[in-house]
Amino acid sequence: MSTTVNADSTKPVRSTNTFAVPPLASGKRSGKTVNFNLKLGVSQTQFFKGVNTATLGINQSYLGPVLRAKRGDKVRITVENQIGVGSTLHWHGMMLPASMDGGPHQEIKNGESWVSEYEIKQEASTLWYHSHQMHQTGAQVYYGLAGLFILDDDDSHQLGLPHEYGVDDIPCTIQDRRFKRDGNLSYIDSMHDRMMGMEGNTILVNGVVTPVLKAQRSLLRLRLHNGSNARTYQLAFSDERSFQVIASDGGFLAAPVTVKSLRLAVGERIEVLVDVSDRKVVQLQSQQSSGGGMMRMMSGGSEPFTVMTIDAKQVKESAHTIPKTLRAMKAIPDPKDAIKTRQFDLQMGMGMMGGGFRINGKSMDISRIDFEVKRNSTEIWEVRNDSPMAHPFHVHNVQFHILDRNGKKPTQIESGLKDTVLVQRGEVVRIIMTFPEYSDSKIPYMYHCHILEHEDQGMMGQFVVV
Ligand code: C2O
Ligand code: CU
Ligand code: CU
Repeated sequence: MSTTVNADSTKPVRSTNTFAVPPLASGKRSGKTVNFNLKLGVSQTQFFKGVNTATLGINQSYLGPVLRAKRGDKVRITVENQIGVGSTLHWHGMMLPASMDGGPHQEIKNGESWVSEYEIKQEASTLWYHSHQMHQTGAQVYYGLAGLFILDDDDSHQLGLPHEYGVDDIPCTIQDRRFKRDGNLSYIDSMHDRMMGMEGNTILVNGVVTPVLKAQRSLLRLRLHNGSNARTYQLAFSDERSFQVIASDGGFLAAPVTVKSLRLAVGERIEVLVDVSDRKVVQLQSQQSSGGGMMRMMSGGSEPFTVMTIDAKQVKESAHTIPKTLRAMKAIPDPKDAIKTRQFDLQMGMGMMGGGFRINGKSMDISRIDFEVKRNSTEIWEVRNDSPMAHPFHVHNVQFHILDRNGKKPTQIESGLKDTVLVQRGEVVRIIMTFPEYSDSKIPYMYHCHILEHEDQGMMGQFVVV
């Protein structure tokens, strides 16, 4: 038995682990096409010194490289699967033809390759990619099949924001994991994990346990990404300093929004600017789960835990300042232009008679198309949650706007482009979106709860664009 593994302890881990910046894959360019090669493989990772943990990885032992491309580029991504079972790779947040989406209909059999090719038609943003294998998404992401996808556009470098990758523009994929005494990951140990989703007691950032980032510049841009299976984070700094939110899932906000804390649900990305010119050592912490229901509150308490440490003792003066404005926001589609309003009721049955995980009474069936939407049309979706816990609702192939939460306008942070929205228990969240023009096939896109165990157990549906 190893003593270095934080197997049962619920105490925060004090770590001196060095922050890891994921390798950047810029791809091989030929004309307008950028070629990426990704290989899904089985591996071992040392999260704790001298302890091997069985993992899955993409071109490396755990997680994958950060892909990067620009609006107008054509990307051609060859994905090879060598993990021993079927898998997929889905481009979360991307607007693209359904056949290229990497959802459950684009399974890659073990030993085979799949080519996903599409043009980037959306603005600068931080997207991500992950396995979407039917019934296996939770396990495959948990063991490591995920990574970030950064999009640039012509304006995004003109905003005066920190943009030196890994120096002052830093991706942070936040995940919680649970380790067994032998150092391996444990995945779903109880009915509780199955119902509430898999939460761990050890925090990883880019695959490193509660790392220490030695800041190099006095103004940092963090691309915060919740790559967890189920946990919602309420993030704040240990000294309660304020910081600026500059972007949500689908791109920049109109102007930076100053906050002291923010909520990040599974699947969401939020970019922030943090001024560390005071040269302090400060922790980025999370309050014990805010998104959960009664069971989480019982197991939680309000003690914050550390996500990562920023050590700013050695910073050099940044050449950047916090801009006053970012960019003109895309106009929110006018609700009067919506040709259809649809209702989505998120349901989870507790116990034997509960009926399981459903949307509008139905569990996911890969052979059932739930509805059709018209290309270029605008729709309002009303997502209702009368279940005992919060669910992050995600839609493929669109970036939407939140119209309201229980009739109340969204906060400034939530008024930008989104592809995932947390729906609290007792809430009705209305979103509005215009579907892109793609209608190349009968292949459906997914909408689902992004708590991966809920998705795997059926809280998912399918639509086609016609
Ligand atoms: Cu992040 Cu259906 O996916
Ligand atoms: Cu997605
Ligand atoms: Cu859910």
